[in-house]
Amino acid sequence: MSGVNEIRSTFLDYFKRNGHEVVPSSPLVPRNDPTLMFTNAGMVQFKNVFTGLEQRPYSTAATAQKCVRAGGKHNDLDNVGYTARHHTFFEMLGNFSFGDYFKERAIELAWNLITKEFGIDSKRLLVTVYHTDEEAFTLWKKIAGFSDDRIIRIPTSDNFWAMGDTGPCGPCSEIFYDHGDHIWGGPPGSPEEDGDRFIEIWNLVFMQYEQVTKEERVDLPRPSIDTGMGLERIAALLQGKHDNYDIDLFRALIAASVEATGVPAEGERRASHRVIADHLRSSAFLIADGVLPSNEGRGYVLRRIMRRAMRHAELLGAREPLLWKLLPALIQQMGRAYPELVRAEALITETLRLEETRFRKTLERGLSLLNDATADLKKGDSLDGETAFKLYDTYGFPLDLTQDALRTRGIGVDISSFTDAMERQKAEARSHWAGSGEKATETIWFELKEKLGATEFLGYDTETAEGVVQAIVRDGAVVDTASKGDEVQIVVNQTPFYGESGGQVGDEGVIETDTARLKVSDTQKKGEGLFVHRATVAEGTLKTGDAVVLTVDHDRRFRVRSNHSATHLLHEALRCVLGSHVAQKGSLVAPERLRFDVSHPKPVTAEELKRVEEMANAIVLQNAPVTTRLMSVDDAIAEGAMALFGEKYGDEVRVVSMGTTIEGPKVGKPYSIELCGGTHVRATGEIGMIRILSESAVGAGVRRVEAVTGEGALTYLAEQDERVKALAGALKVQPTDVLPRVEALLDERKKLEKELADARRKLAMGGGAGDTASEVRNLGGVRFIGRSVAGVEPRDLKGLADEAKASLGSGVVTLIGVSEDGKASVVVAVTPDLTDRLSAVDLVRVASAALGGKGGGGRPDMAQAGGPDGEKAADAIEAVAKAIAG
Ligand code: ALA
Repeated sequence: MSGVNEIRSTFLDYFKRNGHEVVPSSPLVPRNDPTLMFTNAGMVQFKNVFTGLEQRPYSTAATAQKCVRAGGKHNDLDNVGYTARHHTFFEMLGNFSFGDYFKERAIELAWNLITKEFGIDSKRLLVTVYHTDEEAFTLWKKIAGFSDDRIIRIPTSDNFWAMGDTGPCGPCSEIFYDHGDHIWGGPPGSPEEDGDRFIEIWNLVFMQYEQVTKEERVDLPRPSIDTGMGLERIAALLQGKHDNYDIDLFRALIAASVEATGVPAEGERRASHRVIADHLRSSAFLIADGVLPSNEGRGYVLRRIMRRAMRHAELLGAREPLLWKLLPALIQQMGRAYPELVRAEALITETLRLEETRFRKTLERGLSLLNDATADLKKGDSLDGETAFKLYDTYGFPLDLTQDALRTRGIGVDISSFTDAMERQKAEARSHWAGSGEKATETIWFELKEKLGATEFLGYDTETAEGVVQAIVRDGAVVDTASKGDEVQIVVNQTPFYGESGGQVGDEGVIETDTARLKVSDTQKKGEGLFVHRATVAEGTLKTGDAVVLTVDHDRRFRVRSNHSATHLLHEALRCVLGSHVAQKGSLVAPERLRFDVSHPKPVTAEELKRVEEMANAIVLQNAPVTTRLMSVDDAIAEGAMALFGEKYGDEVRVVSMGTTIEGPKVGKPYSIELCGGTHVRATGEIGMIRILSESAVGAGVRRVEAVTGEGALTYLAEQDERVKALAGALKVQPTDVLPRVEALLDERKKLEKELADARRKLAMGGGAGDTASEVRNLGGVRFIGRSVAGVEPRDLKGLADEAKASLGSGVVTLIGVSEDGKASVVVAVTPDLTDRLSAVDLVRVASAALGGKGGGGRPDMAQAGGPDGEKAADAIEAVAKAIAG
């Protein structure tokens, strides 16, 4: 008997042998269709290939596609657990032809697979065709050898398949398996068709049309094929089961919840185990594809699924959060086929545990309120909407959970009074935010948010997605269209563009339709949940309601991501090197560089910076995966996550971890753990390298580190290298010899400076110390040396005067230095034996006056002055001589 994993690979191998490209499943959040809540069929990822918009290098393909049907056109949530074949999550096996083969080959391939490869008894099979599809009818007769009564013509939409309100569509032919007359039910089209005897196993869609709008349907460029076979159904059949929940995969999941709760999957508890098994699959796969529980959009559908499962966990008497404990069993079953489950294990675990912990806090109180409110109701009655709304609003019970809880008792819920209560609350909320202050000026965004709901951010997983334009704002007012040259702000229902926050700049990129193109220069978050793209229309006209393709500037985002992850590594490295007082005080994460401010009371030394850089780069070289988890703030902080003090966090936070600590007490633990909503590299190696450029002060006790990463770091280093080479060239040495050469040059320079000073002094002293006798004049018994010297610094004059004085023994020295710009400095020195008769101060003033200056000062034995007229030096000396001579 084949297990699910073998059946999946048998299917894919078969089509591969038959020339098909085996293509991986696309994510559950459709990147190429904003109108779809979740990927709900194998053909979703090929939608644009069918319509001819997109080309692929193959014309036939086969996939095992993960699908969720909960919310939107195909919604199975309410039935799950109570029936044999409903699931919120399932896998669809499919083969596709994009204008290659059509009906005949499709039927042939399908027939051979099920009768030959799978060995299903052909006598038990019958098919349906769309009532007007003669061709399909004839082909079935020919290929399967069916008699007319085993080919049933169906005139309803059951045999006309459409993905949604728009998109590729066409008549289809379904293959049914007859489980035998011991089971109640009739063939398709009969009044008993809803019975369980005849089960559809494969749907072959002959894709021929595209539903463009509700009214308009056009031919596809080429007739194509899309088929879908539920893996769980075919597995049930091949495993001889009548119920999908009895296949190997579900038995394993149910065994896990039986073991964890100690409650057998029997009687009225059977449905609870099934709900848990099914919802565990959809929850885990949705989280792995980037959906997180929230109160809006896809996140809310996920929350509904999770909470429905969690109520059933409670019905099974689980005292502790249960779902996360079952994840290993799911990964064991499906992790090999879907490695994303393994990659996201931590995120899924934390998200499940957190949601269940929080929901449990109110679950019991809510259920007892529900019991009280329904105590007097009997089968066929309805619970009032007010109570259902209170359960929703206060206890977090989605409406369908309340309905589910009352289902076994045959009690309904009054939906219209529930909706009224909801509307009243919304109106109330509106009246609050229309208040004052900064928010009032942004009223337009709050109004739009109220009307449109929050924008769904897809940018953690993708840089391109389709969306529908919900609002265009120009000059502060909502407009319907934007044309070439207009500068506008655009709101789209979902976007891969990151809105500026947490220091990370908003994304840039393009928004396009078939005819219009807008350049996005920034993305901001507004009105608590809207992502607003600031854009200029480069071409064409954009209208509200247009389907658009949003593409983030990849290179820019890549550099931003590297820089953001680098700030986390630097933060931890700074704490390790400087101490745990270091806390983040702000940051800027731009494409070109990063800036990171931390609390630290003194400059970070070059040696410390070097260690920080080395440590952070060691984690880059680990190329360790970067993991994201969702948890409560308290749990995150308990795990050692660094949170910004005073920052406002929601109840749930994203926790980003990277690297493994290689030294110190945390060895083996994650290196960096931070609360962060930003976008990050997948593995630290993508950062390439971190290079710190500078360290500076930005305020009391706050230091700023600036750095570059990846290409930015390479460019920086290349420039440095060029500089060293240029230096080496100028010095005519090898780059490695630049430093010794420069040191040698500096030594030499010092020596030369000293020699120069000595030479000048000698010159000033008239050719040599002691050789002054020849110029000593006798002025009425006072020995006098008066000299004008060039090239001597004013500060050296005194020293020279002292020397001359010493050689004189008794007398007066007057030295005048003239600088290059013609200014004079003068020093007069008087030996001590003469100071009672002659004052250096008086004499220097005489000299200064002759040099066009004023004043001068000093002591009676040594005084200094200056004057502008250097060329009068000789006159000044004579004036002093005259003054001495009296
Ligand atoms: N797209 C078709 C289906 O989902 C095959 O049934």
